Amino acid sequence: MNKRFWCLLCGIPFALIAALAMLTVMRPAQAQDASELTAQTPPPNAIWLGSLDLSKMTQGWGKSTADKSVGGNPITLNGVVYPHGVGTHAVSNFDVNLKGVAVKFVSMVGVDDEKKGMGSVDFRVWVDDKKVADSGVMHGGDPAKLISVNLTGAKMMRLEVTDANDGIDSDHADWAGAMIFLEPGATVKPVAVDWVDDSPMPVIADCTNPPAKPEIHGPRITGATPGRPFLFMVPVTGREPLTFHASGLPAGLKINPHTGIITGALKASGVHVATIIVHGPAGTAKRDLTIVGGIHKLALTPPLGWNSWNVWAGAVDDANVRSSALAMVKSGLAAHGFQYINIDDTWEDGRDAQGFIQSNKKFPSMTALADYVHSLGLKLGIYSSPGPKTCGGYEGSYQHEQQDADTYAKWGIDYLKYDWCSYGGIAKNNSLPELQKPYKLMRSCLDKVDRDIVFSFCQYGMGDVWKWGAQCGGNLWRCTGDINDSWGSMASNGFSQSDHYMYAGPGHWNDPDMLVVGYVGWGNPHKTHLSYNEQVTHISLWSMIAAPLLLGCDMSKLDKFTLDLLCNDDVLDVDQDPMGKAGHRYWQHNTIQMWARPLWDGTMAVALFNTGEEPHKGSVLWSDLGLKGKQLVRNLWLKKNLGYFAGGFSAEVPPHGTVLIKVGKPKNIKAYIPPKNED
Ligand code: GLA
Repeated sequence: MNKRFWCLLCGIPFALIAALAMLTVMRPAQAQDASELTAQTPPPNAIWLGSLDLSKMTQGWGKSTADKSVGGNPITLNGVVYPHGVGTHAVSNFDVNLKGVAVKFVSMVGVDDEKKGMGSVDFRVWVDDKKVADSGVMHGGDPAKLISVNLTGAKMMRLEVTDANDGIDSDHADWAGAMIFLEPGATVKPVAVDWVDDSPMPVIADCTNPPAKPEIHGPRITGATPGRPFLFMVPVTGREPLTFHASGLPAGLKINPHTGIITGALKASGVHVATIIVHGPAGTAKRDLTIVGGIHKLALTPPLGWNSWNVWAGAVDDANVRSSALAMVKSGLAAHGFQYINIDDTWEDGRDAQGFIQSNKKFPSMTALADYVHSLGLKLGIYSSPGPKTCGGYEGSYQHEQQDADTYAKWGIDYLKYDWCSYGGIAKNNSLPELQKPYKLMRSCLDKVDRDIVFSFCQYGMGDVWKWGAQCGGNLWRCTGDINDSWGSMASNGFSQSDHYMYAGPGHWNDPDMLVVGYVGWGNPHKTHLSYNEQVTHISLWSMIAAPLLLGCDMSKLDKFTLDLLCNDDVLDVDQDPMGKAGHRYWQHNTIQMWARPLWDGTMAVALFNTGEEPHKGSVLWSDLGLKGKQLVRNLWLKKNLGYFAGGFSAEVPPHGTVLIKVGKPKNIKAYIPPKNED
């Protein structure tokens, strides 16, 4: 901004300024305004927004840097270049403690020209919890707008960019020329602060104090290849000491009476129903477990577990994998079915003289680590790329595929995430045969080893992987780019899965990426930036999709709310439903979406999602679901039957929140027997 613009405001009598300043200025940019905000230096007493700590800004994609668009270009709106400002990406939040010294915030806003007319966003400014400016929906190419907000006496300011309720694609949003004016002589400066969820915490059932009477949880079905090592820990809560028995275990398996860990090796293919009995001081629990022997019978329900990437990224090592495994048991999550402990990228060193992969010094002995994880009843996963290098630039499996599969089996690995990364430089083109080739190759290598290894494809959905992932031997496949802990990222990864539901099923699942609840942060952990309601939506949506639930958080920092989200068996049972029919969106009216999925006990799980910023009533009609008459409704997050309802069910759904119910009276079926073509 140059002096002329600044003096335009200074020249007006004070009372009038005050009156004007109470009103937020929001209008299409005039050429003059735009040119005023394109100065190289700020006016006296003003600071550029970009001089604050932008690491505190949360956003749906990329990283905000001062004076650049999120795509890394000069900030440009309608052909006007702004030397200063902040380029971000919807959905974005930035909280600033004004330290009582700010008098005004001024910025041009719009979608950066680098998106060439694409993208749609809404810029909002909140001051002390009141919305004081709202640009309305702005599309790429729209004339930039000027925002000017009075901050006199204000404590906090939040700059928000929403996705205008249509997903975050191309939402490159600019706070162009943005600056904060300070009181003359101010001795302190405003500071950016961590985003704090001040939204009301939704009431969800307490799961961290399970009943004293034993209860068996987790998957009702599991599978393995005959002759290969079998490991399954029966997930149980209840007052200890507990003792475990199993009748009808197939030949080759035995259960440890003290730990409930089933080990051995199946002798034959086929479907077996074992009855697990758990005794404790407060009673007895009994539940059937279907055990399927055969080739390619892994991941009959979506994998539940943990992966190092979203919390530790390159800082993963033997010690934090061990402590995460132990915390999985101690936190009680293993007692609800979580069982995989997966090491992501950055464990790899080079190869020895014979070409065998070595782990680097962060992982002194993978064999010892696997033994430890197995001793807890859990399973160990690893990561590689079909290319010469992983996404993190570490050694990939290219031209060493069989050696790597052999090494993983020798170490005792149970799960492989295989990430495309540098294979892009090897593939001749993006044709299906080229996209499939490295995955088929690793599949054939895994088939030759003497260990069951769940195979997770990671190639971000290229070539509509959901259509062919199962034929190429994938147990799960990433359908999206990398998730982060923002509403925009989580919602776009999750809600985009509706059309893929028919490709999911026992042994082969759509994967919208790992969870971002708890303390996450890719080497720099912080409390998730998802609000409480957004976290409820995250777990509900992933469960409706029948997605893998792989935590990506610091396992030593599981607060009560996060634990209650993760150990709710009613919700986990939706995700782990043995029939494996994924849910999808039935309809969307304004900001409410209704998703449903059929469950093995004859009921339906129904989610009412609210993607909007305001609470809305959501209503499902039984006719939407092909149901008639009175239906029993159970609120799954509350773990509570609400009674019988005729015609349908309505509830208020909080902003970005979810109401998750089960509709119908469960049939009393004891064991799940897979249909013939699936056994
Ligand atoms: C890619 C994947 C992530 C993670 C990193 C590791 O970005 O999508 O999940 O595995 O690579 O480098």
